[in-house]
Amino acid sequence: MIQSDLDLFGSQPQRLASHTVLLPGFVLSEVEAVLDALRPVLRASPFRHMQTPGGLRMAVALSNCGALGWVSDEKGYRYDPIDPMTGKPWPGLPPVLFGIAGRAAAAAGFERFEPDACLINHYLPGNRLSLHQDRDEHDFSQPIVSISLGLPALFLFGGSSRGERTQRIPLSHGDVLVWGGEDRLRFHGVLPVKPGVHPRLGERRINLTLRKAG
Ligand code: SIN
Ligand code: FE2
Repeated sequence: MIQSDLDLFGSQPQRLASHTVLLPGFVLSEVEAVLDALRPVLRASPFRHMQTPGGLRMAVALSNCGALGWVSDEKGYRYDPIDPMTGKPWPGLPPVLFGIAGRAAAAAGFERFEPDACLINHYLPGNRLSLHQDRDEHDFSQPIVSISLGLPALFLFGGSSRGERTQRIPLSHGDVLVWGGEDRLRFHGVLPVKPGVHPRLGERRINLTLRKAG
């Protein structure tokens, strides 16, 4: 009885827009495998603060894995096969992430998603990500699969223009959010992460976005 009551708050997929699905706790049973896979990636290509085209330093630190990595510098935003910090290709996309991304996309109605890029964002308490569209990828028919780990955050999910009203979606450790189709170019961002200590990841939030970039 108690168990079924708890299920009400648990892991049912939630459709938040026509082509946007929240999968609460989708990676909870695989968190350790994900962290094991991230460790060598981050040793080879550590988190760093990139410059925006406007010359500002991004508050959120980032790295990438996969054939392509998202980079920002004074010339603009783009995907690049080479990590500018190491001069080497980005670490390969770990099979566990490729697998989760495909299963999450399918659970949200997007079959045969084969990501070639994973942006790894690192938030400290207070860090935010301003409203933006993900539009550096070639094929907007492919969805974005976002995995959240560590401290919770409020994800802002807007419309196709910057001024449209935004909904606030709480994202917790282990949640996966998938958006694609007619929602693919919606503006989105993250409100400042509240101070806290996550039992597994400490004072940080890590978000992985898997994309088909090339
Ligand atoms: C992003 O838009 O690239 C990241 C979103 C998030 O951190 O939840
Ligand atoms: Fe984004």
